[in-house]
Amino acid sequence: MDELESVAEEIRSCKKCKLWLYRKNAVPGEGNEKAQIMFIGEAPGENEDLEGKPFVGAAGKLLTKLINEILGLNRADVFITNIVKCRPPNNRDPEPDEIEACSPYLDRQIEIIQPKIIVTLGRHSTSYLFQKMGRRMDSIGKVRGKFYQWNYKNDYIILVFPTYHPAAALYNPQLKKVLEEDFRKIKGSISSKTVT
Ligand code: URA
Repeated sequence: MDELESVAEEIRSCKKCKLWLYRKNAVPGEGNEKAQIMFIGEAPGENEDLEGKPFVGAAGKLLTKLINEILGLNRADVFITNIVKCRPPNNRDPEPDEIEACSPYLDRQIEIIQPKIIVTLGRHSTSYLFQKMGRRMDSIGKVRGKFYQWNYKNDYIILVFPTYHPAAALYNPQLKKVLEEDFRKIKGSISSKTVT
């Protein structure tokens, strides 16, 4: 079993926080072990809980479209996961103790994949990574759309790119435009060989 799959197996049987009581399936994440781009959302919703796969509902369809049409990539080229791997009841926000219990899995996924770019979708994953980078997190509207250098373990640089959560853009055409604009910036950085 590869390393990423063994983390996934642990996640599927995890009982480190109360969310295991409510889940149908834990959602470890999926994609390419050698992905150069990693997407981190908030937590699985109803569809993800049913299927055990990340971003497969309406927000996921928008994310997939942006990956396909703007980045010119497939989901299998990238890695998609969440900061919290089990669905919170009624899709409420993840609570701090749930993030604390679950985030070591995300840390291990980052360590294994060693992506060049991490796209944080929404405030929860952005706030978690900003904390790791020792940065103060303003609102997502203020920090989005820029690359932040994370000197990962003083070893190499990961570019962290916060943007809006696709769920926020579903019914807001203005936010959808901003999200598309942000994905074009990501595409620009791939094309300009910031990421090789
Ligand atoms: N929203 C998220 O943050 N993650 C998912 O996997 C689905 C919806």
